[in-house]
Amino acid sequence: MVSRVIPVEDFDLVIIGATGDLSRRKILPGLFRRFSSGQMPETSRIIGAARSEMDVAEWRGRVRDALEEFLPKEEQDGERIEAFLLQMEYIAIDAMGEGGWKELGALMRQDAVQAFYFSVAPSLFGALAERLKHFGIANEDARIVVEKPFGRDLASARALNATLAEHFDEHQIYRIDHYLGKETVQNLMAVRFANILFEPLWNAQYVDHVQITVAETVGVGGRGAYYDKSGAMRDMVQNHLMQLLCLTAMEPPSHFDPDAVRDEKVKVIRALDPVAPDDIVRGQYRASADGGLAYRDDAEDPASKTESYIAMKVQISNWRWNGTPFYLRTGKRMKARMSEIVVNFKEPPHNIFTEADAPRCNVLTIRLQPDEGIDLRMTIKEPGPGGMRLVEVPMDMTFAEALGDAGENADAYERLIMDVIRGNQTLFMRGDEVEAAWRWTDPLINGWKDRGDVPAGYDAGSSGPDDALMLMHRDGRRWSEILS
Ligand code: BG6
Repeated sequence: MVSRVIPVEDFDLVIIGATGDLSRRKILPGLFRRFSSGQMPETSRIIGAARSEMDVAEWRGRVRDALEEFLPKEEQDGERIEAFLLQMEYIAIDAMGEGGWKELGALMRQDAVQAFYFSVAPSLFGALAERLKHFGIANEDARIVVEKPFGRDLASARALNATLAEHFDEHQIYRIDHYLGKETVQNLMAVRFANILFEPLWNAQYVDHVQITVAETVGVGGRGAYYDKSGAMRDMVQNHLMQLLCLTAMEPPSHFDPDAVRDEKVKVIRALDPVAPDDIVRGQYRASADGGLAYRDDAEDPASKTESYIAMKVQISNWRWNGTPFYLRTGKRMKARMSEIVVNFKEPPHNIFTEADAPRCNVLTIRLQPDEGIDLRMTIKEPGPGGMRLVEVPMDMTFAEALGDAGENADAYERLIMDVIRGNQTLFMRGDEVEAAWRWTDPLINGWKDRGDVPAGYDAGSSGPDDALMLMHRDGRRWSEILS
């Protein structure tokens, strides 16, 4: 099966903060891949904007370096890279001053889609938005793209939303959560709403519980200063895990359009119960035998109480989910890098087989990484004579195997940037959604701060603190196998 590429409209994309890490690592390589696939019109332009003074030749050289550093070798086609570089422009701008803005305005076309990617600290968002309007650069249909962290609590997220709203309409603001750009996350919606099989069972009557895991092997080294002010709750749960939870738990939207989908997600967030302290386990990694630093050394604060791991039991108070817990866990320096959503169904209501051969519960696993795919555990008869013996087997569909070339996925960033150009906000967070997520998160963080809770230590390369196992065991459940 070959993937279909539908070219987007002609565009001018300005990357503000173009010389930064995100731009070099993700945005530029992602755009190059879209260019290579034929999705970017030849007349479209990518305009780097940053503080450093340089001419376009130097900028193109820097883009070439970034592509050589961050693209896999087999994707580095010299001729294509040179053709891509011809679509690059550069303007030096002063985010807080006057410099470069008039020149940027002169460069922008009015008959092409305009997009401005704010790849800078959130403290600059307001100044940038104001200048784009003040200098008459952004038109009524221009899009601005902003990265997480979108605030660090409800008050700061509200302030940020208000600042952006002074200059741009909600339909122009694209708040990125790159988890929404992952192939399997979208597939979750396809599996749920394009098949009749699951939806009738997708509720508290048939689902025993759901597990959402995002485990990473990396530590926070190199970004300890940022991370120590965030912790796993702000860095991962409030956004990425929350999005996975919403897409798993939401009602079917009436249409696959941005507001219909986001309305349903907001309803899930609003239905989340407060989480009791006993239902939260926070952890912090220790130094590892192979010389890996302890969290506190990475964070450069020997007394840090910030969590690099969190597990929690979350309840959704609505008709569909009342009584079916969602267990979330995420951590750094874990045994394996893996992200998955595991839907554990209940036992069949009546067992006609012997005790020893009782059917196991069906389990649907949606794997985000690695090996994106879907696996459904079923009970069948073990082949061969000898009576009715039951055995559990996987119905495993790894996308790369099932779909060939079409199963090789675009990176989340390239998909999302193309959605910005298309003007499709479905996979971006709406302002009220971000605020609702903080409204739920804030009391949990304040709770452990006020109590002075200290995260439990866990070994780097392990499955997290023992207390996280207890969180499940006391409910007679266990975490899905890879990490426990
Ligand atoms: C980022 C977090 O948003 O997501 C990082 O700030 C984390 O701490 C990263 O490592 C994980 O993304 P992915 O796509 O590698 O799972």
